[in-house]
Amino acid sequence: MVKVNLHPSVYEWIDEMAKITKPDKIVWIDGSEEEKQRLIKEALESGELMELNQEKLPGCYLHRTHPSDVARVEDRTFICTPTKEEAGPTNNWMDPNEAYKMLYSLFDGSMKGRTMYVVPYLMGPVGSPYSKVGIELTDSIYVVLNLRIMARIGNVALKHLGNSPDFVKGLHSKATLDPEKRYICHFPQDNTIMSVNSGYGGNVILSKKCFALRIASYLGRKEGWLAEHMLIVGIEDPSGKVTYIAGAFPSACGKTNLAMLIPPEPLKKLGYKVWTVGDDIAWMRIGEDGRLWAINPEAGFFGVAPGTSYKTNPNAMETIKRNTIYTNVLLKEDGTVWWEGMDGEPPERGIDWLGRPWTKDSGEKGAHPNARFTAPASQCPSISKEWENPKGVPISAIIFGGRRAKVAPLVYEAFDWQHGVYVGATMASETTAAAMGKVGVVRRDPMAMLPFCGYNMADYFAHWLEMGKKIPNPPKIFHVNWFRQDENGKFIWPGFGENLRVLKWIIERCEGKVSAKETPIGYVPYVDDLYLDGLDIDKQTVEKLLEIDKELWLKESEDSREFLSQFGDRLPRELIGENEKLKQRLLK
Ligand code: GDP
Ligand code: PGA
Ligand code: MN
Repeated sequence: MVKVNLHPSVYEWIDEMAKITKPDKIVWIDGSEEEKQRLIKEALESGELMELNQEKLPGCYLHRTHPSDVARVEDRTFICTPTKEEAGPTNNWMDPNEAYKMLYSLFDGSMKGRTMYVVPYLMGPVGSPYSKVGIELTDSIYVVLNLRIMARIGNVALKHLGNSPDFVKGLHSKATLDPEKRYICHFPQDNTIMSVNSGYGGNVILSKKCFALRIASYLGRKEGWLAEHMLIVGIEDPSGKVTYIAGAFPSACGKTNLAMLIPPEPLKKLGYKVWTVGDDIAWMRIGEDGRLWAINPEAGFFGVAPGTSYKTNPNAMETIKRNTIYTNVLLKEDGTVWWEGMDGEPPERGIDWLGRPWTKDSGEKGAHPNARFTAPASQCPSISKEWENPKGVPISAIIFGGRRAKVAPLVYEAFDWQHGVYVGATMASETTAAAMGKVGVVRRDPMAMLPFCGYNMADYFAHWLEMGKKIPNPPKIFHVNWFRQDENGKFIWPGFGENLRVLKWIIERCEGKVSAKETPIGYVPYVDDLYLDGLDIDKQTVEKLLEIDKELWLKESEDSREFLSQFGDRLPRELIGENEKLKQRLLK
């Protein structure tokens, strides 16, 4: 079955892991359709998957995770570098030797009575010099079937690997799902990830946050590129020119939505189109032309279901009509699915994400707030024809954003790259259901990478500054906030498709077509430069959205200063300098 001559270390590692986990059987995954059908059949028999209405949702299945296992567990996620310094103050750290020892005892016999699947997977387009290979060993068919959507798995990955020993090792076992013994550990120096006692996507689909962000960010620094928590989207203007934008927002803050945006009617009429390249992760390198080029290492979307509707994200709704795995959504009587925020009336009754009978008047949530869909990117109506281009796409603008009820204006532009790095390094957002813990608390989340940076964040900032010096023609950097609220806690900006109006301004700034108002925090649009035709919002409100409250921003700058101070001497001095300059501009 395996047609290539793999490096002996591949087999040695798999043997070693099998000796520890003691599965009944080892099955190599080839990625074929026949294999997929066989796995689905098995998962249906074991109850790991439930079949949905195959007429209405062909190829779609439902999975429920354990109630204690519904989101990423940041407090149980570790970076295991030889020294604590290397992991930095924002990561949980464990000594690698101790971590291995502890993990091997948890993995000891954890696959007894189960099959170990060997899943080779490719991150990045086939044939791209920037693509990388991982192998995940897992005892979960759900994981195999998710990986099958999220990455390019099986023989295609082995072919890319050839006889090189250079692959990311991933070991995952559901073990007993004991939350007290749940660990997601990364060993950047060993190219290794180990995840135990979880079955939830972000903890166990090791290709995604674990490899493509935590391990890849470490590799990126070593090799001179960037692995970022960013969507990639192409905006086609009426002349047919496509401008690519990369955007970093924390989990559940609108990446998937922005990546699949549908232009509002007036902009559609003008001829604007939007093309999806990626919705979560970007690997970016300096191209021969001196610009920054990005690939989407993934092949699918692992999106937040609640809030997804034909009103907010029609492209996502079309994407998830077939060949989709739904996790922790409500099961309707007709064998289809539902979640809070879907179009139309809620169903009268169904089976909720916990598997209990549910009625619409119960006052309980039908779907978990972090319920997810896993769907192939190729099914997205707005998928870019460049999305699998081995070279990637050239990035003209980078946007940072998050959920801020106050403080951050709708959009502003950084003065230059260094200031942009400061803006990214100090960005903040209210926490969401995507991670276990309290929701709605403001926390600093640099470049939306706080939970995903595989090394000391101070070194990560230094790497960003360094990259800026190396890119002859760097993207402009912006910050956006779709989530500003009025006195009653209502979002002021309509968001979703209407966000294209902001992207239009961003592109015009990149092209040098519009001027902007210089404020202490950066360049802000003149209201008249924002295209507001057909939008039910008055200019005064937009003015308010663009307002910079000096008092709040002074507090913000002090807060940022305090956040940055945790990095001590390791923090690049440039960032303290930017903080100082911001304060001076605010006090002027
Ligand atoms: P991701 O995890 O960063 O990809 O975030 P998603 O795009 O899946 O969005 C997460 C949640 O935020 C969903 O419930 C969306 O409906 C909501 N959302 C996304 N974009 C906007 C927006 O522009 N405005 C508002 N108010 N909500 C949004
Ligand atoms: P996201 O990540 O929330 O950024 O989509 C998925 C996850 O790992 O939970
Ligand atoms: Mn998403």
